Amino acid sequence: MMTNQNNNGSTTATENNNENKRRRNKRLLQRSFNIVGCVAFVTGTNNPKGMGRAFVNALLREGAKTIYATVRNNDKIHQLDDLVKSSDGRVVVVVLDVVTDIDTVRTLGIQYPDVNLVINNAGASFSCDGGNTLELDPEKAKKEMEVNYFAPLRVVQAFASNLKKTTSSSNCENDDKNKTNKKKSVRSTNNDDDESEIDNYSSASAAALVTVASILSFRNVWATGYGCSKTALHYLTDAHRRDLGGDDNEYNTLVIGVYPGAIDTDMNAKYEYKKYSSASVADELMIALKEGKEHLFPDPYAKKHINDYLKRSNKTLQQQQQKDII
Ligand SMILES: NC(=O)c1ccc[n+]([C@@H]2O[C@H](COP(=O)([O-])OP(=O)(O)OC[C@H]3O[C@@H](n4cnc5c(N)ncnc54)[C@H](OP(=O)(O)O)[C@@H]3O)[C@@H](O)[C@H]2O)c1
Repeated sequence: MMTNQNNNGSTTATENNNENKRRRNKRLLQRSFNIVGCVAFVTGTNNPKGMGRAFVNALLREGAKTIYATVRNNDKIHQLDDLVKSSDGRVVVVVLDVVTDIDTVRTLGIQYPDVNLVINNAGASFSCDGGNTLELDPEKAKKEMEVNYFAPLRVVQAFASNLKKTTSSSNCENDDKNKTNKKKSVRSTNNDDDESEIDNYSSASAAALVTVASILSFRNVWATGYGCSKTALHYLTDAHRRDLGGDDNEYNTLVIGVYPGAIDTDMNAKYEYKKYSSASVADELMIALKEGKEHLFPDPYAKKHINDYLKRSNKTLQQQQQKDII
C-alpha cells in the first residue's frame, strides 16, 4: 500500500491507517463505572418487588454514597420508609412524576449536581392486552410514549452536564491501577500502535446512564403501543451512547441499555408465564456497570429472544441481500 503524503491535501493511506488504528484502540477500551462512592438518581422505586427498588438495594450493597430514589407522589413516600431508615441517610426520597412534573424534571441537574449515575427505570404499559395495530388505541399509545420515551429523554437532557464527562472516574479508588492495566492490554495486542494516543483514553467512566427498555424493543409479538415506546427508547439509548460515550465524541460516559424479558413485578402480575426476580436483574446491572457492558439482556427469557432475533434478522437480511445481488 502507498503511504506517501500527496500534495493536494487529500487523505493519504498512512493517515487512513492511523485513523483506523486510533478507532480500533478506542473500541478496545471498556467504559467501566465505579459504583463505590457514586451518587445515583433512580426513577420509579416505590414498588417493593419492582426493578427500581432492586437497583436501589443493589447500589446500597455495592457502596454507592447517595441514592436519590423517586416516587410518583406523596402518597407513595411511605413505601420507602423502611429502606430510608435502614440506609443510614444514603437513600433520599424524591417525589417526581416524570410525565407531569416537567418543570421539576428540567431542573434536576441543578438540584442534584453531584449525581453521576442516572437510571431511567420508571415505565408503564397501558395496552398490553393486544398487539393488533388496527385496534390500537392511539391515546394509550401516546401515554406510553410519554412515560417510556419522552420522560427518559427529558431526564437525560436535565442531567446533561452531569453526564458529559471527559475524564476518568474521580471516585475510582483503583484509577491508577485501571490505567496501567488498560495500557498493558492495549499494548500487548497492538504492538505497533501509537501509545500516546492510547494514553488519552481511560477505561473508567466518571458518569453512567442506564435505560430500562424491554426485550420488546426487539421482539415484535404483542403489546404494540408499549413495544413501540420501548423500541423508541432503545433507539434513544443508542443515540445517547453516540452523544455521551461513543467512539467519535469527546465524552467518556458509560451508556447501558437494559432489555428485560419477564420479571416478577407488579407490572406483569396478571400473566402466568415464568418470571425472574428483580434482584437478579439488579445483580446483572451491577456487573454491567463494573465491566462496562453496554447491552444487558438480564434474564433467560430475554437472552433467548435476543439470540433468536439476531439469528432470524441476520438470515432474513442475508437472503434479501443475496436476492438484491442476483
Ligand atoms: N416486569 C417486566 O417483565 C419488564 C420487562 C421489560 C421491561 N420492564 C420495564 O422495567 C421498568 C420497571 O418496571 P417494573 O417491572 O419494575 O414494574 P413496576 O414495579 O410497576 O415499576 C414501574 C415504576 O415506574 C413508576 N412510574 C410509572 N409511571 C410513572 C410516572 N409517570 N412518574 C414516575 N414514576 C412512574 C411506577 O410508579 P407507580 O407504582 O406509582 O405506578 C413504578 O415505580 C419499566 O420501565 C418497565 O417498562 C419491565
